[in-house]
Amino acid sequence: MSPDQIALVQTTWQKVLPIQNAAAGLFYGRLFELAPETRPLFRGDMAEQGKKLMAMINVAVSGLDRLDTILPAVQEMGRRHAGYGVQDAHYAQVGEALLWTLAEGLGAYFTPAVREAWAAAYGALAGAMQEASRQAMA
Ligand code: HEM
Repeated sequence: MSPDQIALVQTTWQKVLPIQNAAAGLFYGRLFELAPETRPLFRGDMAEQGKKLMAMINVAVSGLDRLDTILPAVQEMGRRHAGYGVQDAHYAQVGEALLWTLAEGLGAYFTPAVREAWAAAYGALAGAMQEASRQAMA
């Protein structure tokens, strides 16, 4: 990711933070529409789950300019996700639901450049999780 892209992700995330609970609700609603087969993988309270997701995105977004410092935590999370029954194909569906949620939440701020920057950020995060998860399963 370029420094400009990192800045775009960080500034637009600040606009999502005040509406993070609503954003989490939108996100899971969209995910379960796009990929109903992922619904049974979630066993806990979805409001709690939404808070954990938002907190993790917050850490990742803040750490985008020093990815090496958050990489071990991201890899650990990828290994845990393998244990939840998450498969490779699910990552693309989650990415799609996330971009859709950002489009809803950001409205006119969700320009093509912002979309591209978020797609790159999610791709980096998901890629590291998938890689660690594959190693854990091997
Ligand atoms: C960048 C991508 C993702 C992030 C940041 C993320 C974040 C999180 C976090 C923070 C948790 C809380 C537990 C933990 O830390 O292990 C969690 C749990 C979980 N995630 Fe993700 N996740 C991502 C991708 C996915 C994908 C692709 C799926 C596939 C459907 C998924 C399904 C789940 C499930 C099933 C749980 C456990 C729920 C439960 O305990 O009932 N996640 N995720």
